[in-house]
Amino acid sequence: YRKYRPGPVVRLPDRTWPNRVIEQAPRWASVDLRDGNQALIEPMSVAQKRRLWSLLVEVGLKDIEVGFPAASQPDYDFVRWLIEEEEIPGDVRIQVLVQAREDLIQRTFEALRGVSQAIVHVYNSTSPVQRDWVFGQGRETIKALAVRGAEWLRREAAKYPGTDWTFQYSPESFTATEPDFAIEVCEAVMGVWEPTPERPCIINLPATVEVASPNVFADQVEYFATNVRDRDHLILSVHTHNDRGGAVAAAELALLAGADRVEGTLLGNGERTGNMDIVTLAMNLYSQGVDPRIDVSRPDRIIQVVKECTGMPVHPRHPWVGDLVYTAFSGSHQDAIRKCLRRQTADAPWQVAYLPIDPCDIGRTYEAVIRVNSQSGKGGMAFLLERDYGLSLPRWLQTELARLVQAESERRGGELVAAGVHELFRTHFVVD
Ligand code: KIV
Ligand code: ZN
Repeated sequence: YRKYRPGPVVRLPDRTWPNRVIEQAPRWASVDLRDGNQALIEPMSVAQKRRLWSLLVEVGLKDIEVGFPAASQPDYDFVRWLIEEEEIPGDVRIQVLVQAREDLIQRTFEALRGVSQAIVHVYNSTSPVQRDWVFGQGRETIKALAVRGAEWLRREAAKYPGTDWTFQYSPESFTATEPDFAIEVCEAVMGVWEPTPERPCIINLPATVEVASPNVFADQVEYFATNVRDRDHLILSVHTHNDRGGAVAAAELALLAGADRVEGTLLGNGERTGNMDIVTLAMNLYSQGVDPRIDVSRPDRIIQVVKECTGMPVHPRHPWVGDLVYTAFSGSHQDAIRKCLRRQTADAPWQVAYLPIDPCDIGRTYEAVIRVNSQSGKGGMAFLLERDYGLSLPRWLQTELARLVQAESERRGGELVAAGVHELFRTHFVVD
């Protein structure tokens, strides 16, 4: 990653957004096995969950939300399997989700019995539409529910003193919640948990539905970070969804605005349009010279396992890792890439037009697809003759041949392969 440099910071006199770049990786949290799984038409089988779990550990994720054990028996069984049969690495914390309901919280702790460390993630929804239309309750009742949830967590955790517990709270639908009310609820929850800088809790701000542009989300995060009491007693986490296509952008801007941690999934599976894609954000950091502190250098393996476990294909133009990302079709792009690659040396910063990173870094190779049809210029045709027949034509001959190639491909109504171009060349310019 050291071969990359941050992009330019454009300084404008009336700019209000800070002129900054992200300098270090956030703490990552995977929600593949929970948010990702709950969004599948057919939820993962036990075998698929185990396989995806191994991949998440292999990639180096340290906080892994593994399910909603109080709401789903398969999730409960999976948590028990992890604790009883799988060796959870010492630096990995499993995380489980639960609503602010007493019976569900009791069952959640039961599911976690015997684990050496874990994050219990409790949530309730706080936005006006959820308060008024879904729950029919006012602000005070919603806040009281969050506080009771926090108390139940503290009470149940005390029954299992052998475990190192971390508490996490999400004001679900945060993006649609009044910013001051979100702070009020989170402070009330923190009042119960009494976190300290040494033992912080996690406050997770979800863009449950992405309802505004990424800068607006970042403003909400910044407002929260600046105004919440005891900021250093909490890890500020964000959980973005991709409804407007901005989940990664929102998470990146949130990091600039003060967030410490991001939740997401490998390649972005999740409710509706998906969760924030961890691979894309990690590659964004990498391509700016920042060590992402997770290993996404083998995307083909990630794609293969995620596809096997979720059934979700990856778009060929998926950022950084799609099949077509390092393929150039246009002659002018190919020409520019060729010129840059000729000058690029191993120890110099990467500077290749149209290739934001060296594809070799993620096990890929640059590929030029040469298309010769009635629309192409002479470059592609000359390239094919040179590559396949070792022929280097003078420019005047390239121009002549290009005319013939165009006429021939128009006549055929399609593309000409190298052999067809060579045949035209032989017929018109070679005397046997
Ligand atoms: O999107 C969301 O709000 C969630 C919460 C439960 C954190 O997934
Ligand atoms: Zn979510």
